[in-house]
Amino acid sequence: MSASDRDPGFFEIVRSQRAHRALLSDPIPEAWIEQILEAGTHAPSAKNCQPWRFVVVQDAALRKQISDGARAAWLAFARDTTEDQTDPGFLDVDRWAMGGLAEAPVVLVLCGDTTVLPLDQMGSSIYPAAQNILLAAAALGLGSLMSSLPLYAPDGSFAKLLGLPEHVVPLATLPIGFPARKLGRPRRRPIAEITSRDRYGVAWKR
Ligand SMILES: Cc1cc2nc3c(=O)[nH]c(=O)nc-3n(C[C@H](O)[C@H](O)[C@H](O)COP(=O)(O)O)c2cc1C
Repeated sequence: MSASDRDPGFFEIVRSQRAHRALLSDPIPEAWIEQILEAGTHAPSAKNCQPWRFVVVQDAALRKQISDGARAAWLAFARDTTEDQTDPGFLDVDRWAMGGLAEAPVVLVLCGDTTVLPLDQMGSSIYPAAQNILLAAAALGLGSLMSSLPLYAPDGSFAKLLGLPEHVVPLATLPIGFPARKLGRPRRRPIAEITSRDRYGVAWKR
């Protein structure tokens, strides 16, 4: 048995997990949402301080407002920075940012509690939970997306929309839903290109 055969299901999920931007609006069972959140809470955090706070947004009007904020941020800061606007990757993001986001039945907002951990240390204790959430969603056959664009609504309305108190800071939005289409394999650089043996720059060879 090779190392990669020990739990082929796990490695298949890791290798196929991708950014799903086209999601069906069909609801997700609440038990599944809780299973996904629980996976998030099994992530590591500094001193096991568990600074994550979740807001599960299902309300259609709120999802639309989050999507409107993302659209405004896309148009204000990001859309025109893309040179090739015919690229399928751009078109995928563009469709999502211009309103597709609202179709996700759940937008999970991952926040950090700054009374538990200072803001400048928050990311490293929050993003592992995000990754667990993405993998758990994939394991349930759901599509999900790690996204930050909605946080940058130009009118600064995001935190207010969700009634976040000052000490609770939003760090990521993760739309989740049944995938509207099957995605191909992700494109990733081979480990030999990015890995050194013992000292930086010494090729990793077997
Ligand atoms: C911190 C972070 C923020 C991201 N924000 C967005 C976003 O706002 N909108 C979006 O469409 N994708 C966003 N992404 C998703 C990336 O574009 C995606 O993970 C990457 O292109 C790889 O895509 P793939 O898994 O389909 O290969 C974000 C990813 C990360 C890690």
